[in-house]
Amino acid sequence: MPGPVLHVTGARPNFPKAAPVYRALAERGVSQQLVHTGQHYGQQMFDVFLRQLDLPRPDVDLGVGSGSHAAQTAAVLTAVEDLLLERRPALLVVYGDVNSTVAAALAAAKLGIRVAHVEAGLRSFDRTMPEEINRVVTDRIADTLFATSPDAVAHLGNEGIAADRIHLVGNPMIDTLLAHLDRFDAAKARAEHGLDGPYVVATLHRPANVDHPADAAELVHAVHAVADQADVVLPLHPRGRERLRSVGLFTHPRVRVLEPLGYVEFLGLVRGAEAVVTDSGGVQEETTVLGVPCLTIRPNTERPVTITHGTNRLVTRATLAAEVEQRLRAGRPRTWPTPPLWDGHAGQRIADVIVREI
Ligand code: UD1
Ligand code: UDP
Repeated sequence: MPGPVLHVTGARPNFPKAAPVYRALAERGVSQQLVHTGQHYGQQMFDVFLRQLDLPRPDVDLGVGSGSHAAQTAAVLTAVEDLLLERRPALLVVYGDVNSTVAAALAAAKLGIRVAHVEAGLRSFDRTMPEEINRVVTDRIADTLFATSPDAVAHLGNEGIAADRIHLVGNPMIDTLLAHLDRFDAAKARAEHGLDGPYVVATLHRPANVDHPADAAELVHAVHAVADQADVVLPLHPRGRERLRSVGLFTHPRVRVLEPLGYVEFLGLVRGAEAVVTDSGGVQEETTVLGVPCLTIRPNTERPVTITHGTNRLVTRATLAAEVEQRLRAGRPRTWPTPPLWDGHAGQRIADVIVREI
């Protein structure tokens, strides 16, 4: 009897990626367990996603919590190692690019347990991003690599990974988006937030934008310039909250800073927005499929397909306000391309490969 398939989640964006894979494997009768590392925790960064995405309570919550990169990665590494020794899974499935992903993959690889990486091959080629290091290392040690876009397949090939280990399957995060589309109620979001004109949704949490006072102050200046044109609704990730408050984010009357929202509430708000301003990876992808113009405040993206086949555009803090003005003038696009295989069936394709391999 092979052991179970073990899924590891750590942070908020892991849940919409894991949910369709978990569901598709359940439909195929595969024995599986969900392990949460505890990197993200609490109602709004964890529980709400299980509830809204029909994921079961994790079989194990390792409760590692917050910490420096080394402390958090090390805590996941040792906790996952113990668990792997106890459960001896047939396969460990990791998602995305967070610290929990690389740590769990490393623990498994050292024990000779096969690792599958969902969302492999994305590259920003920017090693100042912790996520880029996590991606490169995870892909290096994974046995099976599931890619969301052709550029990711090409990067993995260029890095010498054998073609028969790489599977272009589409995007499971988009499976989740399409599965829940009917629940994203823009009118309800408008009513709940008292919005009666065009509005912009913003999410900001990248260290390069929010960690250092000078960057954060410049960012706040740019967001205020957007708020001079339209209401800005900003469900704020806990990471930069105090820093952004200290440099004046909350002082503009048309900037509404909220707690992080549940998945359904957040995407309801996004669906009705004239534009989204973000530094999130997942939000670049979701706006691409929803056809909401996305302005990404970053010098690069590991998701270029959202620019070539979507609504995304890279902006700087200096160009943001003018870019928003242009979007407000142009209105929402009527038609737009979407990336190949972002069709709601990635989880099924991933499960088919996993079933063949375990
Ligand atoms: C992490 C990921 C990032 C991802 C983001 C998704 C890494 C290196 N980074 O960044 O790639 O885009 O999650 O949201 O893994 N905190 C809370 N409550 C929580 C979680 C965090 O208050 O539930 C606060 C803590 O002060 C913590 C800080 O946020 O120190 C940062 O959390 P952490 O998980 O280390 O990184 P994120 O910035 O969330
Ligand atoms: N999200 C959410 N509530 C919010 C902000 C984001 O549910 O208030 C969702 C978003 O729709 C996407 C995921 O969280 O599914 C993206 O996570 P995040 O931006 O934290 O991480 P990244 O994708 O940048 O790693």
